[in-house]
Amino acid sequence: MKAHNILLLGSGGREHALAWKLTQSPLCKALYIAPGNAGTAQLGTNIAVALSDFEALKKICIEKEISLLFPGSEEALVLGVWDYFKQDPALAHIIVAGPSKAGAQLEGSKAFSKKFMQRHQIPTAAYAEFSEHNYEEGLQYLAQHALPIVLKADGLAAGKGVVIAFSHEEAFVAFEQMIKEAQFGAASKTVVVEAFLTGIELSVFALSDGTHYVLLPEAKDYKRIGEGDKGLNTGGMGAISPVPFADAAFMQKVKDLIVEPTIKGLSAEGITYQGFIFFGLINVGGEPFVIEYNCRMGDPETEVVMLRLENDLVALLEAMQAQQLDQVQVQCHPKAACTVMLVSGGYPEAFEKGFAIKGLQAPTQSLLFHAGTKMAEDKVLTNGGRVIAVSSYGTTLKEALQGSYDTISQLDFQHMNYRKDIGWEF
Ligand code: AMP
Ligand code: GLY
Repeated sequence: MKAHNILLLGSGGREHALAWKLTQSPLCKALYIAPGNAGTAQLGTNIAVALSDFEALKKICIEKEISLLFPGSEEALVLGVWDYFKQDPALAHIIVAGPSKAGAQLEGSKAFSKKFMQRHQIPTAAYAEFSEHNYEEGLQYLAQHALPIVLKADGLAAGKGVVIAFSHEEAFVAFEQMIKEAQFGAASKTVVVEAFLTGIELSVFALSDGTHYVLLPEAKDYKRIGEGDKGLNTGGMGAISPVPFADAAFMQKVKDLIVEPTIKGLSAEGITYQGFIFFGLINVGGEPFVIEYNCRMGDPETEVVMLRLENDLVALLEAMQAQQLDQVQVQCHPKAACTVMLVSGGYPEAFEKGFAIKGLQAPTQSLLFHAGTKMAEDKVLTNGGRVIAVSSYGTTLKEALQGSYDTISQLDFQHMNYRKDIGWEF
């Protein structure tokens, strides 16, 4: 088989973990990462480019003879990078590991995804959709809604578009800010109001070829900044895999009630979807419900999923392209994996960056996936809210966690913060 020159899009811990996995494949000839970070620079060539600049991506693909494009984040997919590539004769042969613009709406529009789930009877929280046109009706709906109430900006809002209101007053304020004051710009012109579900969350990842799919190892992410799952939502402070409550019986329900109807639904609606589907699920008394869809892998879940996925990732994407995922068996590493995210003090609110990260060279059993980092001469500097994902294997989850925390004790940068209780419930 012919090896690929691969272009990976993104700059987070997820992309470093993907780069780590892709470069283990004999089917990866060369790896380019746009824009990448100090970690990805160790595994391939970083290229500074904006992910929305499709002309620039085209130029790179032609120059570097790229045959596989792997959008790590949702940005390019929601903007239609798949359609752009497939419509251009110079690019159409390139495998794009992600859905068409229509498929990416599963993540790009909460209103679209809720309607889609309703059409295909996929379990999700009861909801209604409001905008300027039915604003007054929305206020009445909120007034009668049981507490707490979940309000979601329709479009992409960098993970910040969800408000959980514990009083009606709070809900009215959030509703007004989103719709009347365009708090999240065009993204919050439409708002989905949904019932609050109580349960424990789980991230499930499918790779679909449009007809068949495989499930990757599942994971659980820890979104809140504070220990005991308190405080503001972040991009993710850590993750574990496997997830103890995701046993065979529960995963069978996930497949039957959620994954299969989703893939069949996309196909029945004529939506091209060859790529990853991330199901953000919640376990309500043993029954899975969809909280959200994403059209890409999760971050920081990828920083554990890639440790546990034994298959060659490039071979999986070739099988996806050939629509032969029914012939593939996913092999999961028997060990547990965890990741603990080191973040800049202050994150997810204001924080400073540009601090030297110490201890990166110390011997460790862990994998250090860079998120917000950059090189400055011979130093690695902090360059974002989430800085380094410290991932480890263990015979048990506890052992994996011990491995990451031991490694963290050797690492330091000014105002470094992290959660000391990842995996606390298990
Ligand atoms: P989302 O951006 O849709 O993933 O929402 C962000 C977070 O808000 C989720 O990970 C959940 O923790 C929480 N959330 C969203 N929708 C609901 C819901 N219907 N019930 C309970 N929690 C929710
Ligand atoms: N970890 C959640 C996400 O990637 O959206």
